[in-house]
Amino acid sequence: MSELLKKAREYEKEMKERVRTAERPVFHFSNPIGWMNDPNGFSEYQGEHHLFYQYYPYDIHWGPMHWGHAKSKDFVRWEYLEVALAPDEKYDGQGVFSGSALEDGEKQVLIYTGVEEKTAENGEKYAVQNQCIAVGNGTDYEKSVCNPVITGDLLPEGGSRTDFRDPKIWKEDGRYFTVAANRSADGSGQAVLFYSDDLEKWSFGSVLDQSENQVGEMWECPDFFALNDAHVLVVSPIGMYAEGLEFHNGNNVVFLIGKYEKETMHFTRTGIQNMDYGLDFYAAQTMQTNDGRRVMIAWMQSWDNPMYPEDFLWSAMMTFPRELKLREGRICQMPVRELENYRKSEVSYKDVCIEKPVELEGIRGRAVDMTLTVRGSEYRKFRMRAASDEKFYTEIIYDREDGVLTFDRTHSGHRKDTISTRSITVDQKKDLLKLRILMDLYSIEIFVNDGEKVMTSLIYTPAQAQGIVFESNGKAYLDVVKYDIEV
Ligand code: FRU
Repeated sequence: MSELLKKAREYEKEMKERVRTAERPVFHFSNPIGWMNDPNGFSEYQGEHHLFYQYYPYDIHWGPMHWGHAKSKDFVRWEYLEVALAPDEKYDGQGVFSGSALEDGEKQVLIYTGVEEKTAENGEKYAVQNQCIAVGNGTDYEKSVCNPVITGDLLPEGGSRTDFRDPKIWKEDGRYFTVAANRSADGSGQAVLFYSDDLEKWSFGSVLDQSENQVGEMWECPDFFALNDAHVLVVSPIGMYAEGLEFHNGNNVVFLIGKYEKETMHFTRTGIQNMDYGLDFYAAQTMQTNDGRRVMIAWMQSWDNPMYPEDFLWSAMMTFPRELKLREGRICQMPVRELENYRKSEVSYKDVCIEKPVELEGIRGRAVDMTLTVRGSEYRKFRMRAASDEKFYTEIIYDREDGVLTFDRTHSGHRKDTISTRSITVDQKKDLLKLRILMDLYSIEIFVNDGEKVMTSLIYTPAQAQGIVFESNGKAYLDVVKYDIEV
């Protein structure tokens, strides 16, 4: 084991004990110590779900990337494992960037981007990105002697060697495939497919899709999979223009939905869908569970507007894992069902007429799984204030006439100006709105109408603000079921 990896493992072991457990979310994965960004290597291995992540243990700000590691039997309880990879080779000395993992017989194969610093003839430093392999047993990994295995030499003409990263691997009919993100000659993103029979020698397959400066600039973190009879390419485009209420985060995640012809490796895009409409969501990655579900996890943070308390020793959380389903051409997302095993103390109300601000006995808390159904045709705006006390609150406001749902954390407890609102259009279902809300101390995930749209955002409101208040102008009729989540 390299000195760098040993040092990271020792540092993490000692420091993670210093984190105040009460400040950790209850059912969302948070990093042991230091900085975390993208989920990596989200996959099954020997019957358990593994999650790696972009990690810099030594600071709560981004630094030379390592891979942190954890595993879970049910997506709720996570066990921290030791740091998996450190930037300890020449070809990855500037960072072990994002990638993925694959269970391959007894072995766990990791593929990641190695960032290497080079010096130009004029003495200027620049970085190149290539794809590298490491093979292990679920805890310890050995980097391949053939690294880097996919270099810029394999790229189509004009493909950038500086922006070439985030490989996602899978195996099909005995052959390995990898899709990676790249900047094409026109300066915008493309997803490039490679294949190999032995993980060492790789060939160029095809360009699956390109932005052509329409879907943002550089693409990051591609993923590619079948969902029912469609194929889905997920990418995280940097620098998208907002269109109406769509694509407001400068860094978004989108589903590119289409058809894939395996023989020619040709993907034809037929649609594009924003993956999440909240303020804090990026770099999503999916896995297929052993029971056949397509499950997605993402970094619950934003490069545009990062939010985390400076006095914490850790910086980030992942979303709660979501199952993806294709329904009438739209990809819907709902929390994986395993969460239901941790539901405690149910409180429910039916048909409560809401007008003036009201708190319902037992409906409060900061680690909750709650479903609301709002009916009525007389009201204009229905509001729910969560994480509320005399000073703080975060609002979810439904404007029934416009069919617009707004999340607003303006009063959630920032001490400086921070982007705080997002709105979405809601497909009106006969004056009925259904919201499933997961709240976990510092985050709120809102699943609208059985997951047709999702809004994920952070709130760093003091934990004692536990109130939930409903209000409506005009009569609205509310059903609510609330559980505390205890892990
Ligand atoms: C996305 C990303 C990836 C890269 C990693 C570096 O958030 O920029 O493209 O591999 O983060 O930490």
